[in-house]
Amino acid sequence: MKIVAIANQKGGVGKTTTAVNLGCALAERGQRILIVDLDPQANATSALGLQEIEGDTLYEPLLGSGSVIDKIIPTRSERLFFIPADLDLAGAEVEIARMPDHLTRLAQALSILRLDQTFDFVLLDCPPSLGILMTNALAAADEILTPIQCEYFALEGLVKIVRVVEQVRDSGANNQLEIGGIVMTMFDSRTNLSAQVVAEVRQHFGKCVYNTVIPRTVRLSEAPSFGKSILEYDPRGAGAYAYRKLAREFTQRHGAPASLRAASHTAASEIL
Ligand SMILES: Nc1ncnc2c1ncn2[C@@H]1O[C@H](COP(=O)(O)OP(=O)(O)O)[C@@H](O)[C@H]1O
Ligand SMILES: [Mg+2]
Repeated sequence: MKIVAIANQKGGVGKTTTAVNLGCALAERGQRILIVDLDPQANATSALGLQEIEGDTLYEPLLGSGSVIDKIIPTRSERLFFIPADLDLAGAEVEIARMPDHLTRLAQALSILRLDQTFDFVLLDCPPSLGILMTNALAAADEILTPIQCEYFALEGLVKIVRVVEQVRDSGANNQLEIGGIVMTMFDSRTNLSAQVVAEVRQHFGKCVYNTVIPRTVRLSEAPSFGKSILEYDPRGAGAYAYRKLAREFTQRHGAPASLRAASHTAASEIL
């Protein structure tokens, strides 16, 4: 099992969109996935239409008074499980800050998942700030996956993330943390800017950057308001195609056997 923090200190770069749609696409390929919503804004929770479902957040496990196992809920997708968030998580952040082991609360809470092999990947949808919750995510993760918008200042943002990863390693909170990959999002093929930014980021970060680039499509921004992933909302569109391609590249990078557990989605097999 690998824990992957989907993180970037900047908001609006596609973290939640990537957590939800990469998670669904990986589950479709046969991987057993747990998405954890770590953002008190709970965007991933509502993007999957799970805000109405009676589900608990990580609040108690983070404070050491409950198991994460009890917080996991199923989703409409086979093999895809979820831990929701709500605004109360912001309160946990304040309370954790007073604890001596405040950087490793999440790592401890998730450690039980490492004991059995129920999940292949745990994806942490991080909040857009360098607060306690994001630091906890980086301390708990095996690797960080950073979505970045194809916009000016992309490189500056990445340099900051690399620095944060180094700080987490140096702090002793997690000296194993790796940069698992960079995903370029919201690529606009009508402008030169997007292509220039991708070229520039590839030049500096080389193999770290996923070959798959996520296009800007209205469908990707509409899907969350229907509580659906892009695979459900527009299964044959460019957004679904891109996230399926990203999932394939992700499993290849991790040496995970693709579709061993019989992912029998016709649209997927047609497209891929
Ligand atoms: N590839 C895309 N094309 C169009 N809109 C997108 C795309 N990716 C994300 N969005 C939209 O951009 C906004 C920010 O994305 P989101 O994933 O919530 O970012 P973050 O979690 O980093 O704050 C959302 O409204 C989302 O629907
Ligand atoms: Mg988000």
